[in-house]
Amino acid sequence: MRRTIIITGGAGFIGNHVVRLFVNKYPEYKIINLDKLTYAGNLANLKDIENKPNYRFVKMDICDFDNVYKLMQEEHVDGIIHLAAESHVDRSIKDPFTFAQTNVMGSLSLLQAAKLYWESLPEKWEGKRFYHISTDEVYGALELTDPEGIIPPFTTKASSGKHHLAYGSKFFTEDLKYQPHSPYSAAKAASDHFVRAFHDTYGMPTVVTNCSNNYGPYQFPEKLIPLFINNIRHRKPLPVYGKGENVRDWLYVEDHARAIDLIFHEGKVAETYNIGGFNEWKNIDLIKVLINTVDRLLGRKEGEDMDLITYVTDRAGHDLRYAIDSTKLQKELGWEPSLQFEEGIEKTVRWYLDNQDWMDNVTSGDYLRYYEDMYSNR
Ligand code: NAD
Ligand code: DAU
Repeated sequence: MRRTIIITGGAGFIGNHVVRLFVNKYPEYKIINLDKLTYAGNLANLKDIENKPNYRFVKMDICDFDNVYKLMQEEHVDGIIHLAAESHVDRSIKDPFTFAQTNVMGSLSLLQAAKLYWESLPEKWEGKRFYHISTDEVYGALELTDPEGIIPPFTTKASSGKHHLAYGSKFFTEDLKYQPHSPYSAAKAASDHFVRAFHDTYGMPTVVTNCSNNYGPYQFPEKLIPLFINNIRHRKPLPVYGKGENVRDWLYVEDHARAIDLIFHEGKVAETYNIGGFNEWKNIDLIKVLINTVDRLLGRKEGEDMDLITYVTDRAGHDLRYAIDSTKLQKELGWEPSLQFEEGIEKTVRWYLDNQDWMDNVTSGDYLRYYEDMYSNR
């Protein structure tokens, strides 16, 4: 079946993996990458597919309602996969307005354009889909300790029957109430609510997913993993927030892209699916793995760069633990993470070390000014 899909934020970290997967896997689809190219968007991420006949890039702001609407009409768009967002928590603490503008008003502009266009067609909602990509951060934060007094991490069994290590007995499930803490997650939560409202009020065929921390190639080096890999390489300090005790649940980005493909095609209308790795790491333990891996791959003595670890003032409102329960997705649609963390981290570190040009490109100019400002008061 022929489809025309807009993927917003396709020049960003997760977006480029989703665009690549769809362009290569579905030559019969037309894939339109709609991206404003903020500091986080980079067309160099898509060099390998930019000349494919089923791919088009459009530089556009999702807040630009008139042009988004026009594009939908011109291209007869029948699907939207919406990833465009301001995505970095630390930036949201400094500049919440930009986050409300893009993540809330931008999402609303996209929803309204899709509604007006799809409602104007004779078949209306039939064959249409608005897929909103959200985050586990909307659920707030989980506790670290186990009520039975076992010192974490301990082995626990997911409802899927699989064993994994966890730092607490509670997990984010789809039925939890939203309790966002940062301006970033508050803005994402608001956009999730708008998406559901468009289903409940107008009947738009929507689906929402909430995913845990992604890692892998092409992530902008303001986020923990690429920032630290680059700093270890250049023997620069590693700014660990607080005591490094916070826990995140890490998922390889291509596994997220596979889940998005599956849910776009087979997810039920109006449903929410959680996507996660069942892969919890305390920041400080993960950082030690990064140091050992970078050292080994650069031919240094493993662990010789441990003294780069520098404890700095904690992030304001820093969420203690995220842990996704993705059993629903596993049971209903058969998705599971494909990569073991050790394998994923090795691949990721190798990619950043092998792509120093990419790193140098994105870490020039404004990036340096941002970092001077970010760390001047830590
Ligand atoms: P990113 O910051 O790497 O990329 C965001 C992209 O959106 C960039 O290409 C940027 O140019 C574009 N963009 C920003 N504002 C725009 C606007 N107004 N109009 C059009 N394009 C705009 O983000 P990411 O890490 O790839 O995250 C993508 C999505 O996935 C976000 O919605 C984020 O909330 C969600 N998410 C991210 C993670 C993660 O670990 N990175 C986890 C769960 C969910
Ligand atoms: O959980 C999903 C979310 O994961 C996404 O919605 C966000 O878009 C994405 O940025 C990510 O949010 P985090 O805040 O968890 O990611 P970040 O890489 O910024 O930080 C990971 C952890 O590492 C967090 O506990 C803060 C800590 N950290 C981060 C940086 C950048 C440090 O200790 N030092 C740092 O310099």
